[in-house]
Amino acid sequence: MKYANRQIDELRLEVGRRLSEKRFIHTLGVEEMAVLISEKCMPERIDEIRVAALLHDISKEYSEAEHISLLKKHNVEFSDEDRAVPSIWHSITGPLVVMDDFSEFATEDVLSAIRNHTVGSPDMSLFDEIIFLSDYIESGRTHTDCVTLRNKLLTEALYFENEEQFITQIHSAVVESLENNIRHLTSQNNKIHSKTKLTRDAIKAKLER
Ligand SMILES: [Fe+2]
Ligand SMILES: [Fe+2]
Repeated sequence: MKYANRQIDELRLEVGRRLSEKRFIHTLGVEEMAVLISEKCMPERIDEIRVAALLHDISKEYSEAEHISLLKKHNVEFSDEDRAVPSIWHSITGPLVVMDDFSEFATEDVLSAIRNHTVGSPDMSLFDEIIFLSDYIESGRTHTDCVTLRNKLLTEALYFENEEQFITQIHSAVVESLENNIRHLTSQNNKIHSKTKLTRDAIKAKLER
């Protein structure tokens, strides 16, 4: 899907109006990182990658009541496991906001990337992985784990020999970010969503094939 620059610029402005300054700066960081990565492995999809990055946290700052009313409107329910992890609610309601308010951008890939950007999914596409990873390593992230992974991937992006090798590098970076998340949540005695481990195992298996 291609969009005119003007359309994407207008989308960026609207997202900026809807998010806090901090969240918007993070969003722009995700857009920048996602473009950088996709230039190397799916240059023809950059417009849609930009759209997914700009919209990925669109409902992150919603109140519980706002999340619930969106679910009701769309006849969608949280699973018990989803309900227990409020930090992932926005990946379930985000696609609903996009369908309601940004329908011209509501492609399958954009909706799926938003849906899968928090805990992943065992059948994630490369498009999904790029948004997932960019969210974790965008330049505003200062945690050592994020910085290490960012530097590793950016070095890889500079010197990669072929596209396939770079894509393998993206898969391993996603596995590493999931493992970092699992370690972090375990150390804080927080609940780990089952999809996080399922996604890690599925991508690991793909890498071993
Ligand atoms: Fe998010
Ligand atoms: Fe984010």
